[in-house]
Amino acid sequence: MIDKTAPLLDKHLLQRLGEAQHVTVLSGAGMSAESGIPTFRDAQTGIWAKYRAEDLATPEAFAANPARVWRWYEERRNAVRSARPHAGHQALVMLESLVPALSLLTQNVDGLHQLAGSNQVIELHGNILRSKCHITGRLIGADWLTDSTQEPPPSPYVAGGYARPDVVWFGEVLPQEALERAMAAAIRCDFCISVGTTSLVQPAASLPLMALEHGAALVEINPMETPLSMHAEQCLRGPASQVLASVVQQLADWKRDPGQGPRL
Ligand code: APR
Repeated sequence: MIDKTAPLLDKHLLQRLGEAQHVTVLSGAGMSAESGIPTFRDAQTGIWAKYRAEDLATPEAFAANPARVWRWYEERRNAVRSARPHAGHQALVMLESLVPALSLLTQNVDGLHQLAGSNQVIELHGNILRSKCHITGRLIGADWLTDSTQEPPPSPYVAGGYARPDVVWFGEVLPQEALERAMAAAIRCDFCISVGTTSLVQPAASLPLMALEHGAALVEINPMETPLSMHAEQCLRGPASQVLASVVQQLADWKRDPGQGPRL
């Protein structure tokens, strides 16, 4: 049953979603907000409202004070470890079974899509639960990290190297393979959903526009207006858990009986 209070996908967009061969979803921090992980730019509650990105999320900040950066990420890792996916993550798992091809691109580093059971997840900004050597970039196993009492633990690969989170900091380039796969998905898809992102951080913010330029229908899910809103064919204003669950239920109903309207 569709949640009567959730905004519904317009009929012609539901048909386009129902007929889509390839759907691409781009998620941002708002996707994880209802799992208890703070967003970055929301006023009051956003991470960058409390901390300065320059002090914590740049290679320069790590070089200046690796212990401070490591400890701050350790706090965030603990929050991520105790977070659980919500109904919106589950809806995206269901979406995978309803469409011929789904690409799930995420700016989130918390792994919640994978924890929910999504298979085709492309992590654009890395994963906070992984660590890598700050000099060689090689991944460092969890056993090595837990054996060390240093903050940050030394790198096993090179003298003078430290473990650092395997996330993309400001001023760094995105993992090339992930970005190439994401761009290919944006170009190839015929329906694109942007959910829970301010659409401010590049190059991720360009992916839905790339999809639009290549003929895809574009829908935004976000309680707030963003720079992407004016380009979207429909903006569904509400929280990701409720709106995604409702959109995917609409699609499931449409797949069962394309002639029917939503079952309210
Ligand atoms: N459901 C959907 N959207 C929500 C919800 C919710 N429950 N709660 C908040 N939002 C929206 C906000 O309105 C905002 O537009 O999520 C968005 C969060 O935006 P940001 O905090 O800017 O997150 P994001 O766009 O993912 O940031 C991109 O910036 O700091 C970097 O690397 C970091 O990946 C991050 C990147």
